[in-house]
Amino acid sequence: MALLEGKTLLVTGVLTDSSIAFHVARLAQEQGATVVLTSFGRQLRLTQAIGRRLPHAAPVVELDVTSDDDLAALADRVREHTDHLDGVVHSIGFAPQSVMGGNFLAGQWEDVATAVHVSAYSLKALAVASQPLLTRGSSLVGLTFDARYAWPVYDWMGVAKAAFESTARYLARDLGPQGIRVNLVSAGPIRTTAAKSIPGFEAMEGGWPDRAPLGWDVKDPEPTARAVAALLSDWFPATTGEIVHVDGGVHAMGL
Ligand SMILES: NC(=O)c1ccc[n+]([C@@H]2O[C@H](COP(=O)([O-])OP(=O)(O)OC[C@H]3O[C@@H](n4cnc5c(N)ncnc54)[C@H](O)[C@@H]3O)[C@@H](O)[C@H]2O)c1
Repeated sequence: MALLEGKTLLVTGVLTDSSIAFHVARLAQEQGATVVLTSFGRQLRLTQAIGRRLPHAAPVVELDVTSDDDLAALADRVREHTDHLDGVVHSIGFAPQSVMGGNFLAGQWEDVATAVHVSAYSLKALAVASQPLLTRGSSLVGLTFDARYAWPVYDWMGVAKAAFESTARYLARDLGPQGIRVNLVSAGPIRTTAAKSIPGFEAMEGGWPDRAPLGWDVKDPEPTARAVAALLSDWFPATTGEIVHVDGGVHAMGL
């Protein structure tokens, strides 16, 4: 039996075919899942076009994760395609350039607030909006970049990721009694649209392949997508509030 046979998944964050979420959706379909995508605003058409490049064309529902109206409508919009969800993938991140790229001390609250709203609070918002469709055994999976450290140029996005990781633990606490798991994959640097929008991203990816005992390919989202698929599957039934590192082993190394 395929890893995700018979499962229905909501996958956010497909923007281009370089998006981590695109590869999650592709692998999930290859492993037997039915996939519904989300997108928003001017990106909607792009996601619809990319969704047609998946092994099976996937429908796209509108969700700006900062919009109360979209969040309130999400369950009904998804119900046009399925009556339940076995898994939800949070693959969303955004921070204004003014709070990244070495601008930590100059960062202003309004822009920091945007980063935290879109990149951290959104995990709780997405979980609650999806809750009517989730059942015992459902799995929520998100993507982080190891927030225990101060990285070059990541700045307030790193702070937002720390809040995101904490949010996942509180969600694991509050959704666990309903049999819903919440886990994160902490990926190494991958050249996606979001990554390339970080001014000086090369400073983050630089040296990663050399520091990783297993090596690391910044152009290969597959290992990360596989870990997401595994956490969506029934093969981590007693795991929640966890962060699985998919970074070639860098997190475990000293200098
Ligand atoms: N690329 C990396 O090096 C890397 C490493 C670790 C973790 N991550 C995380 O992976 C996730 C996916 O990013 P990616 O690298 O695939 O880049 P990406 O640019 O392909 O995806 C980011 C997605 O966020 C979505 N988004 C932004 N604002 C939104 C909003 N208000 N409502 C709904 N969606 C919104 C965009 O539409 C886009 O699809 C992010 O959480 C990112 O922080 C990326």
